[in-house]
Amino acid sequence: MCGIVAYLGNKQAYPILIEGLKRLEYRGYDSAGVALLNGDLTVLKKQGKVSALEQHKEESSLNGKFNMGIAHTRWATHGAPNDINAHPHVSGDGNIALIHNGIIENYASIKEALVELGHTFTSDTDTEVLVHFIEEIKSKQNLSLEEAVRVALTKIVGAYAIVVIDKNEPDKIVGARLSSPLVLGIGEDEFFLASDATPIIKYTNKVIYLEDGEVVTVSRSGDYEIRTLDNKVQVPKISELDLKIDEIEKGGYPHYMLKEIFQQPKTIGESMGGRINSHEAWAMLGGMRQHENRIKQSERIVLTGCGTSWHAAMIAEYLLEDLARIPTEVEYASEFRYRNPIIRENDFIVALSQSGETADTLAAIKLAKEKGAFLYGVVNVIGSSIARETHSGSYIHAGPEIGVASTKAFTSQVTVLALMALHFGKLRGTLSEDYYRKLLASLESVPSKVARILSKDDKIKYIASEIKNASNALYLGRGYNFPVALEGALKLKEISYIHAEGYPAAEMKHGPIALIDMYMPVVVIATNKSAYEKVVSNIQEVKARKGVVIAIVTEGDKIIKDLADYIIEIPEIEEPFTPLLSVVPLQLLAYHIALMRGCNVDQPRNLAKSVTVE
Ligand code: G6P
Repeated sequence: MCGIVAYLGNKQAYPILIEGLKRLEYRGYDSAGVALLNGDLTVLKKQGKVSALEQHKEESSLNGKFNMGIAHTRWATHGAPNDINAHPHVSGDGNIALIHNGIIENYASIKEALVELGHTFTSDTDTEVLVHFIEEIKSKQNLSLEEAVRVALTKIVGAYAIVVIDKNEPDKIVGARLSSPLVLGIGEDEFFLASDATPIIKYTNKVIYLEDGEVVTVSRSGDYEIRTLDNKVQVPKISELDLKIDEIEKGGYPHYMLKEIFQQPKTIGESMGGRINSHEAWAMLGGMRQHENRIKQSERIVLTGCGTSWHAAMIAEYLLEDLARIPTEVEYASEFRYRNPIIRENDFIVALSQSGETADTLAAIKLAKEKGAFLYGVVNVIGSSIARETHSGSYIHAGPEIGVASTKAFTSQVTVLALMALHFGKLRGTLSEDYYRKLLASLESVPSKVARILSKDDKIKYIASEIKNASNALYLGRGYNFPVALEGALKLKEISYIHAEGYPAAEMKHGPIALIDMYMPVVVIATNKSAYEKVVSNIQEVKARKGVVIAIVTEGDKIIKDLADYIIEIPEIEEPFTPLLSVVPLQLLAYHIALMRGCNVDQPRNLAKSVTVE
């Protein structure tokens, strides 16, 4: 949700910043802008994607060597996505430029006070208020830039990652964070600041993840200093990045989403790596093992997350109750935090997040932590805020996911949650030795079975071409496949803008059936052994109303083959793990439909990959 990148060094800053913005574009793409400094402050900003900004540069006279600058790609919160509201924002005297990710909640009262002091504003943003506020404090109190930033931030309520430059202090950049990520990259005679490490990795693997309430100042002299908002100097902890540049490229695929869908045999395998061995009959998560005593006392599991992560959590509810017989609840993080939930010390709270930065999920676990619950993170991005805020956890090891619609992170989350259910089941003695072994072998077989499904891409593409003009679609599933129906519908609406709903198959009769006619594609996930006949009846009900049925069935299925208009076969697997297979054709179906409708699959309108505002 807004991407930030800044550079200070000896190289030309502009190309580094533009390349960095392109890497961060998944965080927002309503507008983009840069501010460059070499004696004068030059600001370029433009509504639309980074490519629009580049064209704007061609039109403008941007000559000379700029070896420091800041850049931003925006997902609009305050104010429409237009040129004026685009970042960077500049102080009234034109000296200070600032980029911001987050929301300044008390901007209105600060703005009022600044207007009384004679400040005038050109944009509708909270960010412009902040840069004027810093200007006011700096000039009135005669402070350095870093001091003025720090003092201003002590008065700010909200969430932010900011980076600031000042024409009068041209050899430094100041950054700060609270509830929004900011990473400092330390290169040879150069520094980078960015929302994540992707713009940095090409130049250095030495980074510092700033903590909440820290202000960093980097200087051309090569020095850097981190202070807290209450002015205490911090001892920095330098981390080494374990990220390769080819992990953040498209690798020959036309889109990140397609690359990420096709990576799944590998990424699911990596999520299991070192955590399961069916020959020796064990499955475990290191993060659980370290806290086994505490975990054994857990009386209830609460899983929380947003979007696709919430769907993974729903599958975990089925897994944990079915395999480990432990009461489990799933909560939207945004609802959990505001509904005065009952949280007990013996609760085991699992926070699910690809990015590890989702504002609502982070706030939900902070609330649970205050109430004494044990927090476990299931997160993809290493070193992210949720990973650091939790007591323990397991990384899903899916590698960078750049397509805004989550695919490989979902299957990796479900894989780790399946391991969690097996670990809990073993600890609680709820699984017979035979069934446990069967489940282990079944889970290990997932990567090769996903590869088999991917080889049917052409057929899925053909089905997509048949239904691509629909205005609505319905996704039905039962039991383990109900959350998959929700996820399939979410994928379709996110990237193709077709209205789609996921429903428990049996609930269709209580409403959605009224919508069914010959124009309505109904995707039915019909792989469950346990409710097979019931799903067959549901398909008949759809056909009786002339709906178009696309059924996901188990290889060799005969009954549904005769009933459905189109079928996609997936390999047989133990029922608790069917979501890991049944979701894959739904990802491909959404991808092809979106592409055929001319949509931008990697950057769908209005969405952002990492939602760091409420
Ligand atoms: C956004 C993304 C979704 C994602 C959700 C939760 O809405 O567009 O793809 O599922 O946030 O994100 P998280 O990083 O917490 O999994």
